Amino acid sequence: MEELVSLCKRRGFIFQSGEIYGGLQGMYDFGPLGVELKNNLKHAWWSSMIYENDNIEGLDASILTNPIVLKHSGHEDTFSDPMVDCKSCGLRFRADQVPKHCKKEDLTEPRQFNLMFKTNVGPIDDGKSFGYLRPETAQSIFTNFKNIVDSTSNTLPFGIAQIGKAFRNEITPRNFIFRVREFEQMELEFFVAPGTDEEWHKSWVQKRLDWWVQQGVPMESIELYDVPKDELAHYSKGTIDVMYKFPHGLEELEGIANRTDFDLGSHTKNQDELDITAKVMENKSSNTRLAIQDIETKKWVVPYVIEPSAGVERGILAILNEAYNIEELEGGKERTVLKLKPHLSPIKAAVIPLKKNNEDLVKIASDLKNTLQKQNLGRIVLENSGNIGKSYRRHDEIGTPLCITVDFESIDDNSVTVRDRDTMNQERLSIEALPAYLIDIVNK
Ligand code: GAP
Repeated sequence: MEELVSLCKRRGFIFQSGEIYGGLQGMYDFGPLGVELKNNLKHAWWSSMIYENDNIEGLDASILTNPIVLKHSGHEDTFSDPMVDCKSCGLRFRADQVPKHCKKEDLTEPRQFNLMFKTNVGPIDDGKSFGYLRPETAQSIFTNFKNIVDSTSNTLPFGIAQIGKAFRNEITPRNFIFRVREFEQMELEFFVAPGTDEEWHKSWVQKRLDWWVQQGVPMESIELYDVPKDELAHYSKGTIDVMYKFPHGLEELEGIANRTDFDLGSHTKNQDELDITAKVMENKSSNTRLAIQDIETKKWVVPYVIEPSAGVERGILAILNEAYNIEELEGGKERTVLKLKPHLSPIKAAVIPLKKNNEDLVKIASDLKNTLQKQNLGRIVLENSGNIGKSYRRHDEIGTPLCITVDFESIDDNSVTVRDRDTMNQERLSIEALPAYLIDIVNK
């Protein structure tokens, strides 16, 4: 973990937030390379959900949430962790995460601590005009259910997907970006006919595993955890956690829950007229029926929900951990290389003139950079450092799949040397062939 943290800072992936003032615990900032990696991961998820499935729609809802939503979702009452104080060191911990140096006899009895951040909304600070920063993106999907059903032509089964920030006032944020207070979630709520939910649950577990493998997280590093009944979240009938072997241990990367009809049943009006199977709080405030009419029986049905919910930061940590390699080279040397899947690499190619500031070489390199950039594959950089060896080392370390060197021969033969990050093999290719070559590499 230390090596990864150090690489992330040194190369501009991830920084502690507000570091110049000592930092803010549980918050991280994504630097020039981190933001590219994060965007690429989110794009891969978005494509696999929305562009590859005609029955999944996207949403980007507000973060600040009306408290009544989180009252009916159950978060106001149940979204808490047990917290203890250590009378000896004066610090607070989640009851299951007390460090070894705190003695049992120094700890207070656990008490529940709600993890939601509250903030004032509007100019009046009267304790009543407040909102919550959402603790999960899911709730706005449920509250927009009818808007989306009415504005699209979807029938069951169909899904609504969202990527966005979520906030949790974690008692003990830790393990770099694994447990933080501000993070992003990639969540799908997939609405299905009651009775078909268990089959759909199984099928989404498999789809999500396949997707993680495509992102470079192999099955050997994953275990599935069938969450026991007494550990399930208040809304869940069954949850399969995708557990990943993080550098600090085996922990949850993504949860795939069967949320039954709990959420739509909690937020709907006319609860009594609907056959809601989950135990929900009475709702006298909702003005909308959140159900689908069966075309044949004309009966209103509250769909069940299958929810694959993944954290972007945990995904990035797993992907970086898998990609990070130190390789022995000939002559006792070694190199650090991030073997990221090319579609995730922050920089897709570096174009390097052999001689710094040489007008002819820089002109060819810069034209080539512009041509490749226009392919819309992600960031291409021109490296006018004149130090090929140093450029190779840097681009190995940040996971750039291709380094392209423009040399004096390029002026005559219109070709360049292309070096592959993983094999370090070099081949001579014509400049015209490069766009197609790069497209192939990035999309493979
Ligand atoms: N809507 C369901 C839900 O939010 P969750 O298991 O609490 O379920 C889903 O969270 C995912 O969000 C987790 O699998 C994890 O990847 C990510 N996540 C949750 N809390 C996090 C935190 N404090 N820091 C980073 N990621 C977190």
